[in-house]
Amino acid sequence: MKINLIEKSRIDDVDFTNLTFGKIFTDHMFISEYKNGKWSSGEIRPYKNISVSPSARVLHYGQAIFEGMKCFKSEDDDLFLFRPDENFKRFNKSSQRLAIPEIDEKIFFNGLNKLLKIDSEWIKKGFGNALYIRPFVYASEPSINASEANEYTFLIICSPSKSYYGDMEISVKIEEKYSRAAKGGVGYAKAAGNYAAAFYPTKLAIEQGFQQIIWTDSNNHNAIEEAGTMNLFFVIGNKLITSPTSDSILDGITRKSIIELAKFYGIDVYEREITIDEIIKEHKSGNLKEIFGSGTAVVVLPIKSFGHRDQLYTLNSEKNSISSFLKEKLNNIQYNISNDFENWKYKIN
Ligand code: COI
Repeated sequence: MKINLIEKSRIDDVDFTNLTFGKIFTDHMFISEYKNGKWSSGEIRPYKNISVSPSARVLHYGQAIFEGMKCFKSEDDDLFLFRPDENFKRFNKSSQRLAIPEIDEKIFFNGLNKLLKIDSEWIKKGFGNALYIRPFVYASEPSINASEANEYTFLIICSPSKSYYGDMEISVKIEEKYSRAAKGGVGYAKAAGNYAAAFYPTKLAIEQGFQQIIWTDSNNHNAIEEAGTMNLFFVIGNKLITSPTSDSILDGITRKSIIELAKFYGIDVYEREITIDEIIKEHKSGNLKEIFGSGTAVVVLPIKSFGHRDQLYTLNSEKNSISSFLKEKLNNIQYNISNDFENWKYKIN
């Protein structure tokens, strides 16, 4: 692998106590290109603009997918990824759906390991601090023929981050007009276009005082699917409920980790359809105790209220909430405070 390092780091210009998600990037990036049926072994380069042809297919047809991962620094200055094999698998699953050639495991992990070691100073210790890692691939071939490309570019860029919404508890709007994904579509993939399609309805929700949307099934708008950047969990009585993944719901890695941890700690977990009617009914009877989101960027995020039509339903804050219990267990693994669980820790060597 070719390595081309920067002359002077930008790190001293960064205020690590005041980070807005996704605005600042580390000194380097990893890049590999796909041409003539194969990926190059890749190169570490200074983080800087890349040149893209005006006819690159991605700009016209949106053939692009991405992943979100985090690297954590332990008290002993060791670097850990959390279940990166799952991100790698999902990366290629998303690629497959968008007719993008799969990336080799070796290229992905060699690039990632090297990059994290080179930019390790950018990863700060302490709960909430992490390096958000964004691997992505796009169709770079210059051609506006509406079919899959023959040339692609794969990059990994990294951004120091705090948690996505800070310590805020958010309010979400249940969406009944727009849909994020439909059966047979690309909802399960981390396709760039899934996010673009969510921006307009989310903008409307933000204007109405919410931070995110809860997406419902595209047929009846009654079964709950996921929120903008998160999977969703509901605590009803003492049961933890989440919608089963499907072709319209992202198979979240934090989501599946929460399920496994909750089961391990004896919490009753159900992966089953959950509807708006049910959560409104349970809210009215006082049984709906918590709603929270899970995702790489947010980790675990409590939701304090949800809006449905003209009604706002607010949840009482729980002292010993299931969400804070599970978040702590997860964080303890991520920051290497507790023992490993099911081989989830991946140490950068
Ligand atoms: C992640 O949690 O990694 C996401 O995909 C959210 C991102 C779109 C900000």
